[in-house]
Amino acid sequence: MRELVCQVDDLTPGQAHAAVVEGRNVAMIRLEDGTIHAIEDECSHGAVALSEGEVSGRCVECWLHGSRFDVDSGEPITPPATAAVAVYRVEIEGDDVYVDSSTPINF
Ligand code: FES
Repeated sequence: MRELVCQVDDLTPGQAHAAVVEGRNVAMIRLEDGTIHAIEDECSHGAVALSEGEVSGRCVECWLHGSRFDVDSGEPITPPATAAVAVYRVEIEGDDVYVDSSTPINF
């Protein structure tokens, strides 16, 4: 089931934002190309928020040890993390951003 999370303009391009969707912590990421992504807001290597990391290209970097996660696949592309984080479906209707966090789309 999807939930209204925010408006498109609430998300700054090139940054990650913390959100709670259906009780789950989700990192909302708007890339410089304008696309919006939603991933699990906890690094798979440790209990830190990926929404506090830096966004570069199509990745968000964990601030603690530097693993970079692909926002499309959820896969870590640099160590030390070895497991993917969940990626959730995002739907845009007008200015509204909806996320369905009930079923990850990458597992
Ligand atoms: S806690 Fe994220 S890479 Fe170690």
